[in-house]
Amino acid sequence: MLMDATSPPARVPRHVAIVMDGNGRWANKRFMPRGIGHKAGVDALVKVVQAAADRDIEFLTVFAFSSENWKRPEDEVSGLMSLLVVALAKHLLKLQADGVRIRVVGDLTKVSDKVRHALLDAQANTVDNTRLTLTVAFNYGGRWDIVQACQQAMLAGIEGDQLDEVTLSRFMAMSYAPDPDLFIRTGGEVRLSNFLLWQSAYTELCFTDCLWPDFDGAELDKALADFVMRERRFGDVAALDAGTAPAVSA
Ligand code: FPP
Repeated sequence: MLMDATSPPARVPRHVAIVMDGNGRWANKRFMPRGIGHKAGVDALVKVVQAAADRDIEFLTVFAFSSENWKRPEDEVSGLMSLLVVALAKHLLKLQADGVRIRVVGDLTKVSDKVRHALLDAQANTVDNTRLTLTVAFNYGGRWDIVQACQQAMLAGIEGDQLDEVTLSRFMAMSYAPDPDLFIRTGGEVRLSNFLLWQSAYTELCFTDCLWPDFDGAELDKALADFVMRERRFGDVAALDAGTAPAVSA
């Protein structure tokens, strides 16, 4: 962890989820094709994975391709698919050496065999790593996740009157991870865009204008500093009663 011996222990989120937005604008600003922005986005991701591991974050989840991204021009979609395969081949050994466990969530039935194999091989090859779990959300949508969890629960024979939040959570795609403590979205848009809807019920939200290719350890530290200032009550009023919370809060 990045602190000197005299620093008090900082509150580090266990799970950080990121919407990596702004690759296209980053490229446009440089009069370059959007694909170059996505490539720079991969470089940023590699750095941020390292930074997250250095800060003892246990789970990092990134929105690499949403179920809505298919609506993009065909060449951009195929470029993103190729980039994923190339990026995994290029960075897997280093991720492996750094103790990163890769998990994939999303509807992989709709992606090509090549992409599916690249993702599932990366997942299988890193299964024993324990330092940081990097979840790649690919062809993922929060609504899809809730629907597939309901379907799985029905297939498991769970009756409607037995279905509660704890039971359904067991069937959500990220049942292996705690809910995200901190959500970061780069690129200036202020919305969730169908990411981790179920899991983000009490997640602290952080939005930054920084375009994803410019995001790095220093930008992550800004979000972590913001997170430390938040008071998480999970719907409870205890902290308000103790007079430690701001007078007005949601
Ligand atoms: C949003 O930027 C970003 C994406 C749709 C893809 C995110 C992917 C990466 C960072 C690379 C790693 C993932 C893969 C698939 C290799 P945008 O294109 O919407 O940017 P804009 O809002 O500026 O147009």
